[in-house]
Amino acid sequence: MKQLKALILAAATLIMAQAYAATDARTDKIAERIKPVGDVCVGAECGGAAVVAAEPRSGEEVFNTACTACHTAGVLGAPKKGDKAAWDDRLAKGMDATLQNAIHGLNAMPPKGNCVNCSDDELLAAIKFMSGR
Ligand code: HEC
Repeated sequence: MKQLKALILAAATLIMAQAYAATDARTDKIAERIKPVGDVCVGAECGGAAVVAAEPRSGEEVFNTACTACHTAGVLGAPKKGDKAAWDDRLAKGMDATLQNAIHGLNAMPPKGNCVNCSDDELLAAIKFMSGR
């Protein structure tokens, strides 16, 4: 008798849980249906290229996401990370001029190293990380 009660209780709980889940799913569907039709976003709101990260990323983070593709292996003659001699040559003209080249691009080096949402400070941090300065 006790076992039967437990079984009925378990079954009832299961049914209730299912009913609840079904209601939930229906609410989602309704929310989907009554969503405003003109729900569009423009530019930065959409998470597009214009978005600048709230927190500045470290040089290492920027390097690992944007610069490593070329600057680890030295693709197309890119000065390699940690290649002191190569970076000494580059930085002989000064950090500012080097940063400007990174911002605007230089030959095969794309503007901002393709990190379109990188701030100048983040690019500078990445250059410092790569050159060990
Ligand atoms: C598509 C490949 C590529 C990517 C990605 C790339 N670079 Fe470069 N980078 C190059 C090449 C190639 C050069 C050498 C250009 C030359 O001197 O002709 C270079 C040169 C540089 C220089 C030296 C500029 C100078 O004045 O001599 C800096 C600084 C630099 N890159 C920074 C970065 C940073 C920071 C990133 C990431 C945000 C990055 N690069 C991503 C290819 C790349």
